Amino acid sequence: MPKIDIPQLKDYSSSSLDGFFQSIKDLFEQEAANVHTLDELENLRIRWIGRKQGLMNQIGDVLKRAPAEARKDVGTRFNTLKAEVEPRCDLNAIRASKSSVSKTFATNAPGTIAVISEGLARVGIDYGVVEQTGQSIDITLPGIRPTLGAEHPLIRTMQEIVRVFEHMGYSVGVGPEVETDYYNFEALNFPPNHPARDTQDTLVVANQQHKPLRDRLLLRTHTSPVQIRTMERQPPPVRIVIPGKVHRNDAADATHSPIFHQVEGLCVDENITFSDLKGTLDHAMKELFGPNVRTRFFPSFFPFTEPSADVQISCIFCGGKGCRKCKHSGWIELLGCGMVNPAVFDFVRGKQPAYDPKKISGFAFGMGVDRIAMMKYGISDIGLLYSGDMRFLEQFA
Ligand code: PHE
Repeated sequence: MPKIDIPQLKDYSSSSLDGFFQSIKDLFEQEAANVHTLDELENLRIRWIGRKQGLMNQIGDVLKRAPAEARKDVGTRFNTLKAEVEPRCDLNAIRASKSSVSKTFATNAPGTIAVISEGLARVGIDYGVVEQTGQSIDITLPGIRPTLGAEHPLIRTMQEIVRVFEHMGYSVGVGPEVETDYYNFEALNFPPNHPARDTQDTLVVANQQHKPLRDRLLLRTHTSPVQIRTMERQPPPVRIVIPGKVHRNDAADATHSPIFHQVEGLCVDENITFSDLKGTLDHAMKELFGPNVRTRFFPSFFPFTEPSADVQISCIFCGGKGCRKCKHSGWIELLGCGMVNPAVFDFVRGKQPAYDPKKISGFAFGMGVDRIAMMKYGISDIGLLYSGDMRFLEQFA
């Protein structure tokens, strides 16, 4: 800004004073019109009403030399000027009076803070936003509409399954995806070198050989280790479902993926029987797939359940008559389950003595979420669930 150039005052006559104050006011108007940013506003404030060097002070000094009979004339004119200049240099005053904002800036500089402050105030946003960035925003531009996300079909299916069990009084738990051999296998009654370990196609973390087997890290092959973690933490009764991601060293094809999802269930209490297991799962399948779905249980094997069973549901596509989807059998295999093996309780008894197989019993089950999601939504390739392909995902929005 130019150095101060206060006009010369020749005498103290009315017309001379009017001219003097008018030229100062013109100067202020000219400078105020050039203020487009908050920094510039601050400069204007310092220049005009700054405490030491401010122009208004200097003008005041000049006028102090006025002869006594001119004092009154000079004083009223000075005060009028001051009342005009001060609020227009001060952000708080500008804020307090939106109309003076527009008078100060809006006409000469559309799109500047004046416009912004008024525009933002109209939509209820605090002017402070502008203060922080110090930038001009053209609030007349159309807004950017945020695209709404949608739940991934896997997560949605997993939540649906979990909700069915929540309604039956189950709580929800989670556990780590990188697990130790102990929780993934040993405590679930897979002894070292037991052939049942081979069925799990484990992905192990490299360079763990120096550790005892039980401490070696791997990507959990199922959610069952969280059964152990849950029982170690709390005495019976337990009713819990555990949704989560699991990994196996499977080559990817239309029905296999090295990453997939399971929902585990565990119920431990006095007098839990296989009938409870059957009733619970039959009810859950009807909740998930509709009241006409039937279930049947086949003998199976898992080291951590005894007896163990595989559960099939009547084909949801053909109602059980037989079609391509169920390979003309009328049934679709959906989950594994069984009564908790007393050997598993023995592993947790060191930490929770109440898991005494003579006093309590329980059942467990585990189901693959991906297959259920694929059936529910008619997805033919499991890889689509992990592809991140927007054309696929947008269908679920
Ligand atoms: N964890 C087993 C699997 O992944 C499923 C299962 C869970 C079986 C609980 C019985 C009880 O194959």
